[in-house]
Amino acid sequence: MTNLTFIGHSAFYIENPQCGILIDPFISQNPLAKFDAAGKKITDIIVTHGHGDHLGDAVPLSKKTGAPISAMVELANWCAAQGANANPVQMGGLLSYSWGKLRFVPAFHSSSTPDGKYAGMPTGVILEIDGKKIYHCGDTCLNSEMKVIGEVYKPDIMLAPIGSHYTMDIDDAVIAAEWTGVKTVVPMHYNTFPQVKANPEILKDKLKNKDIECLILKPGETIPV
Ligand code: NI
Ligand code: MN
Repeated sequence: MTNLTFIGHSAFYIENPQCGILIDPFISQNPLAKFDAAGKKITDIIVTHGHGDHLGDAVPLSKKTGAPISAMVELANWCAAQGANANPVQMGGLLSYSWGKLRFVPAFHSSSTPDGKYAGMPTGVILEIDGKKIYHCGDTCLNSEMKVIGEVYKPDIMLAPIGSHYTMDIDDAVIAAEWTGVKTVVPMHYNTFPQVKANPEILKDKLKNKDIECLILKPGETIPV
């Protein structure tokens, strides 16, 4: 039994008896986030790119728990220089963890560290856990790599940014859902800042027309995957 919790923005917590995985843990600086890291098992931290609304509390949480931060080489090395436990990776490799597999995939965006250094390429990730494939898109525009992801990796669930301005908007997220062939979409990266306002109910209606499920999660809400 694996649970997926939406923390807020693009931050998620995935937990089962083997693991507690944080993705893009933007928590303490997001007043809308709902997650008390103190009471949680944290075995792994995954960061899609270096922007503050994704890197978030990764470094302090890694220092506190010892959980490794898996991220692109440049970003992971920067985290290591801050004292974190880091696992530098690159896109394409199928990485093995105690809880399953992880693959970093392309995202079309930018990526820099909080002090303005190059943080490697931005990414999305596909987690294989408990028989499911969860695709967290990171920050990205609609892009044709998603067709490859659909054809080759066949994810079940897509955690998709819909806020526009910095990422896909709702219409592009619908196309991304079709291209990746997912059965379920969980919208993210919206309504955190004025620039990323979006109504997820519109996404839900548009996906319904394509027979794709849309789960709109409130910060702090948990679903089984
Ligand atoms: Ni970003
Ligand atoms: Mn972002």
